[in-house]
Amino acid sequence: MENTYDYGMIGLGTMGCNLVLNMSDHGYSVAGFDKNTAQADKLTKLADGRKLKAFTDMELFVAALQKPRTIMLLVPAGGIVDAVIESLKPYIGEEDIIIDCGNSHFIDTQKRTDQLAKDNIHFMGLGVSGGETGARFGPSIMPGGNVDAYNRIVPMLKDVAAKVNAVPCTAYMGNGAAGHYVKMVHNGIEYALMQMIAETYHLLKKYAGLNNDELQDVFSHWNKGKLQSFLIEITAAIFLQKDELTSSMLIDMIADTAHQKGTGAWMSQDAMNTGSPIPAIDAAVSARTLSSLKKERIAASLILKGPPAETLTGDKNVFIAEMENALYAGFVLTYAQGLAMLKSSSDFYKYDTDITTVASIWRGGCIIRAAMLEDITETYTKEPDIKNMLMDKYFSEAINNTQAALRSIVQKGAALGIPLPALAAALVYFDAYRNDWLPANLIQAQRDFFGAHTYERTDKEGTFHTEWNATVQ
Ligand code: 6PG
Repeated sequence: MENTYDYGMIGLGTMGCNLVLNMSDHGYSVAGFDKNTAQADKLTKLADGRKLKAFTDMELFVAALQKPRTIMLLVPAGGIVDAVIESLKPYIGEEDIIIDCGNSHFIDTQKRTDQLAKDNIHFMGLGVSGGETGARFGPSIMPGGNVDAYNRIVPMLKDVAAKVNAVPCTAYMGNGAAGHYVKMVHNGIEYALMQMIAETYHLLKKYAGLNNDELQDVFSHWNKGKLQSFLIEITAAIFLQKDELTSSMLIDMIADTAHQKGTGAWMSQDAMNTGSPIPAIDAAVSARTLSSLKKERIAASLILKGPPAETLTGDKNVFIAEMENALYAGFVLTYAQGLAMLKSSSDFYKYDTDITTVASIWRGGCIIRAAMLEDITETYTKEPDIKNMLMDKYFSEAINNTQAALRSIVQKGAALGIPLPALAAALVYFDAYRNDWLPANLIQAQRDFFGAHTYERTDKEGTFHTEWNATVQ
């Protein structure tokens, strides 16, 4: 019984149990721990002849593991991770590995890594994407941290990860907290793609007048083309789901207030700190927050007036085709922003993250998997040092061919008073990035005017300050 199990898993919620069963499918024996007896019992029931055992006593749990031990955590991010580490500490020792598989903040992961390294315990931040089904049958796995520790777990990670053309969707993401950083970027991209799909739904429903069956048709059709992706696929399926409590469709019974656990906001915060522009992701985070102000929105709807509601009078199919191109442009601009940020952050934090590898492991298993990631992987394989994928021939042509549709849809939204924050922010990013002149000279003049902050000139090197001669009362 002692020292017999290959791996330990702390946290036997749905994600934890599913990952344990996935590991067991591939021949690994796993001891599980949960202080909640009901959760532990659940694993005992699921074990059903497999070499799995659930514990509610930490000492017995650790004693059951082979040395050096590898202990995975699937517990909520934040203080619980620290509490679990503290409760493990008396029983673990040198060369043991603790792998945090939750959505922890990368700064916390770095602190925990540094702290545990003092006792020669390896702490790894590992992003897992794919939800409950992914955990059970093959997620995309983003590990980072100590290379020796990583090498010890590679075979298991490759076994349990999703496969694309038999290639596992897992690879080393880089030093320190790189695994959790890459997962945060994944989630930020996820937020923007979801928001853009929701904005598309808004226009198709309220302006084009599509019912749920028609919406299902449109998204299913799009899922066969250049928008093919997990999020488009589940969106189509959502419009088919009947409500169990009423005779309505479920989508029409769900309250329009989006929640968030923080990973999208973390990406925006870090983008602000490190100086990476990701407006589409910022807009998606704010859009969720705005949606949650439901009471205020109801009150405002009675007072604040926009343009009168309008319905589409032209050809629906033409509008739907334009919408498809606009959404495609939005998706391209979202991946471009996310990956450009990841590249510059990897330099900033010295993660040494390989963007080609990241794009390739996102092709399967994860929430943002999409046909487009094949093209993105190809782009970065050809040009690993490209600063922004929009500069690649394939994507510059793709965006040049669809920007007009995005522009027209964003204009339509503005004219109708239908908010399209993420699509509009994506367009703003495109227009700012491709403009060789921006009015930032005026910002510099203003800064120098009121604060002597200096400016650079167009005709000479150096920094300059002017005693501005206008007086202002
Ligand atoms: C994934 C998801 C997963 C989780 C999100 C939800 O990749 O499997 O991103 O990690 O569903 O964290 O986040 P929000 O609650 O913030 O939407």
